[in-house]
Amino acid sequence: MDKLALYGGKPVISEKEPLPLVFPRVIAPKAKEYISEVLEAGFDSDMVQRFQDKFAKMHDVHYAVAVSNCASAIHTALAVLDVGAGDEVVTTPVSDFGTYMGILSQNALPVFADIDPDTGNITAESIEKVLSPYTKAIIVVHWHGLICDMDPIMELSRKKGIPVIEDCCQAPLGSYKGKMAGSMGTIGCFSMDAEKHLSTEHGGMLTTNSKELADKAYKFAVMRGCYVEEGFGRKYDMLGLNYRYGQLEAAVGMAQIEILEEQNKRRIMLANRLMEKISKIDGIIPLKIPEVSMCLYWIFPVIFDIDRFNADIYMLGKALDAEGIKGCSHIPYYLITDSHLCLKERKNLYGKTRCPFDCPYQRRRLTYDSDDLPGAVKYISRTVRWVWSDKYSEEDIERIYLAVKKVADYFRKD
Ligand SMILES: Cc1ncc(COP(=O)(O)O)c(C=O)c1O
Repeated sequence: MDKLALYGGKPVISEKEPLPLVFPRVIAPKAKEYISEVLEAGFDSDMVQRFQDKFAKMHDVHYAVAVSNCASAIHTALAVLDVGAGDEVVTTPVSDFGTYMGILSQNALPVFADIDPDTGNITAESIEKVLSPYTKAIIVVHWHGLICDMDPIMELSRKKGIPVIEDCCQAPLGSYKGKMAGSMGTIGCFSMDAEKHLSTEHGGMLTTNSKELADKAYKFAVMRGCYVEEGFGRKYDMLGLNYRYGQLEAAVGMAQIEILEEQNKRRIMLANRLMEKISKIDGIIPLKIPEVSMCLYWIFPVIFDIDRFNADIYMLGKALDAEGIKGCSHIPYYLITDSHLCLKERKNLYGKTRCPFDCPYQRRRLTYDSDDLPGAVKYISRTVRWVWSDKYSEEDIERIYLAVKKVADYFRKD
């Protein structure tokens, strides 16, 4: 058996010929044209509006409001749904911190529904278990880019009268039963961050079919809470913020969204190829992708049937990293109950500032413990992942497969 790179052996993917990285991003040639248009107009341009319209059309929604990033889109969504102090927001315990920042900014509290360890997503069933009279909204995250099982979630939402926000950061142009990501919930939120599928370096988008919510979102995130009265000027009747998106970013977005579908297709094709190959390795479990859903693979997960290995997930992640799949060794921080130590230990993490999850307005005693989230713990303790790329070649897929096989073969018990 080949010596692992972790123990001084030759890595499958050498430093001389590494896997292509996310950067530099591929920028559509038309970006220059759109950027020139904005510059020549001296910023007196309707590029943001045009990008919003295009984005809305492609995601099959009536309205899109561009903002500064996805965390601000989620914050805006919660604010316009009137989520306030002491309200509870049911969401997943496995996500980027951007999913939670808006909840905490509104002085509301996250309540974690457990995830299905085979998909990484929350379900109608796990959401229903943690609803309370104080639940004001639900945030689902299409984790990895795999669209959640939305029909039962929306049915629950209608039954209980609780709005749903879709965090679509990892799933632009994703679909479920023919419906687009960001068009099924009450509000959809997207990221155009530097590493995301559709990148304008920074940026976010809020989508909705409700004119009232779109107008309110614009007022909150762009107008800072004011309306303009003829003959007087700005009048502020609510608290709003400056989460504005720029014309130049929109110019890049206009060009990038034109190539997104092709990039997504390639991203998915390559990921499917690798998933098929690694699922033939003894002890590797493929990501469960329901037939009605689509996975856009912002990250690629390798799920180990962990009891069959002589190593824990940290060791497996380190070994894969050493073989040249960079990023695999950072595993557990997405489990919020573990990465935010204050939740478990009730410690004041930030010196004199209060811990972000320590909300003074809670209406009932909430505890946060990973032990209450067996699905999430199972997912985290047997899954490694890294940021996926449509730049991979067929040869790269083969090299990744060989690296996973080498590590799995080395550590498998039998
Ligand atoms: C699922 C999810 N939600 C929210 C965010 C935050 O996005 P942004 O950086 O645009 O605020 C991210 C970023 O990685 C994410 O993956």
